[in-house]
Amino acid sequence: MDIHRILDSLISEHEEFKRVLRRIEEEIREGVSQESIDLLIEFIKREVDEHSYKEEEILYELVGDKFNVDTIVFAHENIREKLREFEDLVEDFRKGEVEEEIVKGECLNLINMLMDHFLKEESILFPLIRGYDLNV
Ligand SMILES: [Fe+2]
Ligand SMILES: [Fe+2]
Repeated sequence: MDIHRILDSLISEHEEFKRVLRRIEEEIREGVSQESIDLLIEFIKREVDEHSYKEEEILYELVGDKFNVDTIVFAHENIREKLREFEDLVEDFRKGEVEEEIVKGECLNLINMLMDHFLKEESILFPLIRGYDLNV
């Protein structure tokens, strides 16, 4: 397996995620709807989480002996934890116990956190892995 091709494919998945997340973000900025919230949650669970597990597996297998892959696993766990908290908040919102503005803010926080995560992988982690590969 060629690590560069794998990293390229992970990056193109990021590009697709960013497109979808920006679209959801625009919708949410205009107003929080049950549809946009469900879309965001389902998208993260289905696409982003699958991508994250794949990333963990691939990185452990290919560079686990050279890099501390735990940092990325920890970052993914953090995202999953934030998503669980967000789902609890949405549950309270449905019961009318939470203001729409709070939910909107948390949606945007969640999206920002994901964008930031992709950026960190692309600008720090992946180049490190590529650099290591070039030096072997
Ligand atoms: Fe990741
Ligand atoms: Fe990623």
